[in-house]
Parts: sequence; structure tokens; C-alpha cells
Amino acid sequence: MEQKLGVKIIGTGSYLPPKVLTNKDLEIMVDTSDEWIVTRTGIHERRIVDKNTSTSDIAVKAAREALKNADVDAEEIDAIIVATVTSDYVFPSTACLIQDKIGAVNAAAFDISAACSGFLYSLTIGVAFLKLQNFKKVMIIGAETLSKIADWEDRATCVLFGDGAGAVIIEASDNGSEFLDIFLGAEGNGWDLLSIPAGGSRTPTSIDTVNNKGHYIKMKGNELYKWAVKTMKNLIADSIQRAGITYDDVKYIIPHQVNIRIIDAALKRLKMADDKVVINLDKYGNTSAASIPIALDHLNCAGKINKGDILIFVAFGSGLTLASTIIKW
Ligand code: UT7
Repeated sequence: MEQKLGVKIIGTGSYLPPKVLTNKDLEIMVDTSDEWIVTRTGIHERRIVDKNTSTSDIAVKAAREALKNADVDAEEIDAIIVATVTSDYVFPSTACLIQDKIGAVNAAAFDISAACSGFLYSLTIGVAFLKLQNFKKVMIIGAETLSKIADWEDRATCVLFGDGAGAVIIEASDNGSEFLDIFLGAEGNGWDLLSIPAGGSRTPTSIDTVNNKGHYIKMKGNELYKWAVKTMKNLIADSIQRAGITYDDVKYIIPHQVNIRIIDAALKRLKMADDKVVINLDKYGNTSAASIPIALDHLNCAGKINKGDILIFVAFGSGLTLASTIIKW
């Protein structure tokens, strides 16, 4: 990137629903074991919303936390970009529902569909907006209620996912905080590795699609696994090179919280120690677009990020989509 982007994250927030679903709970629901899930994924438990709670409900809680953390009023937000694959409705967007609930009356609002890479896609759009007149403060939210689209009879997928929301607010900055690298990519030829087959215009909802469970997550786990390891490795190596930094300069790597084996395998191939990697999948599972902003918020609220620290975010998922971002805090 020729010109560094002077942009600062001025506030973060997150929300995890209180209900904990442990691996032991899952042993009662499907033919699985705590041992299998921990060994194959690193996940011990995840959070699940109750049946009356939607994605916008938990996103609003994260958004309000971010406003408080940034000491910003909702009316000051110029755009709300929501990354989600579990929107409340097909339309309107979840962003519009959030805009209404938090009173961000001056904000444009829309959703982005890029699955697990959605937060980084949205962050990139937010950064681009800051280069436009009239956009001074942009709120980016990753929020998912994957429990609503998981097939709770399919042990190969239901053990992986969790619910949660994370939010950040960004503004232009001339105090040294900057985005050192941004990369977005897609490999659409792998679209069928992770999808929900029914309910769209290809296969509209019908009694058959409901009976055939077409509205739940379908995943080709093994193929995705290999792709994810290679992709995460390349994303980190390439973005570090483009940013003109070394691994020693990096304080934290926050990867999409997919599976500890994928993360470990990618780092091993890079010959990088794992002591800079932030992990929360053990407690929250894979929360798709929410996983990076939740991890970032928890670090921030714990006071573990200092001015000038360099953080790398990497994400990959359905689409297939892939993304990386390097920021100087
Ligand atoms: O978020 C975006 C993208 N998502 C991903 O990138 C996910 C990538 N994939 C993965 O993380 C892994 O492929 C999984 C964790 C999903 C699966 O791990 P795996 O080591 O690839 O297992 P597998 O699919 O090869 O299955 C091994 C065995 C099979 O039994 P057989 O055929 O060997 O008898 C499965 O039926 O494990 C069985 N199995 C389970 N057993 C107990 C699958 N799920 C379970 C389960 N409990 N929950």
C-alpha cells in the first residue's frame, strides 16, 4: 500500500448471550463427545441466544458498548455497516434495525454478506467511507446467531458454531494510528463448500426444502479445512510483506476463530510462535463475522492494547471469501 491510511478505532464493544452450551450438553443432543470436539476443534463451549432473541438484539448491545467506549453519541454515527449471515429478515437489513434501536438517526445503514470475512470486508468499506466527505464516524458490526441456522441433528456442524456480536467505531486520524495494509479476496469457485442451499432465489422456500433441511448450514469440512490452513498462512505472510513490517513488529494476531487446529497448522507452516495469537474459540466457538471484533473488544477492555501496537486480523469463510488487515493502534 503506497499511502498509509490515517484511521483510528476509537471504540469497541461486544456482547455474548448468557446461555452457555457445553460439549457435555451436546453429548446429550447428538452422537459426539467432549473429547472429540476438543481434540478436533479446541472448542469447549459456546454461547447460544434464546428463541426470542435475534441478531439485531445482540448487535444493539455490542453497538451501545462501542458508543460508550468511544464516548460518542449515536447521532454522531454517519454509517452503520453490519456483517452477518443471520440477518433478522431477508430484508430490511439488520443495520437498519440497529440504526433505529440505537437512535443513530444520521447514519446510512446496510448489511454485507461475506460470511466469516464479513467484519474485515465491512471494516474496509468503512475506511473507504472515511475518505469521502460527510462520513466522519463509521460503526462496523459483526453479529451472528448461528444457532438459528445450525442443524442440531448434524454432529459434523452443530458443535462448531456459537452466537455473539462485536462492534467498532472508526474515524480519520492524524495521530499516528493507521491501517498499514488491507486485503480482500474471493474464490467463488469454492462457493459450495459452505452454504445454506435453500431459501434464496435458486431454491425458494417450500415444504420440500423444509422437510429436506435445506435451510441449515451444509459444510464440506475436510476440503474447507485444507483451504483454510493454506489461506490463513498466505494471508499473514503476504500482508506482513505488503505492510513492510516483520513478525517481530507484531503485537497480536487476531484470526477468525474457526478451529484451533487450522490456526496452529497455519502458524506452524509460517514457523511463527503462537504466543501472539488471540484465541477465544474455546469459550465461544466459531461466531463467524463476530469472532474478530469480539476478540478485539476483549483485548481492548482488558487494557492490553497500547498506542502504536501493531495488530493483524485474518479471516476466511463461505464464498469463499478471504481478508486481512494490519493496523497500528
Ligand atoms: O468458519 C468458516 C469455515 N469453516 C471451516 O473452515 C471448518 C473447517 N473444517 C474443520 O474444522 C474440520 O474439518 C471439522 C472440525 C469440521 C471436522 O474435523 P475432521 O478432523 O476434518 O473430521 P472429519 O470430518 O474427517 O471426521 C472424522 C470422523 C468421521 O467419522 P468416520 O467417518 O471416520 O467414522 C465423522 O463422522 O469424525 C466423525 N465426526 C464426529 N464424531 C464425533 C464428525 N463430527 C463429529 C462429532 N463428534 N461432532
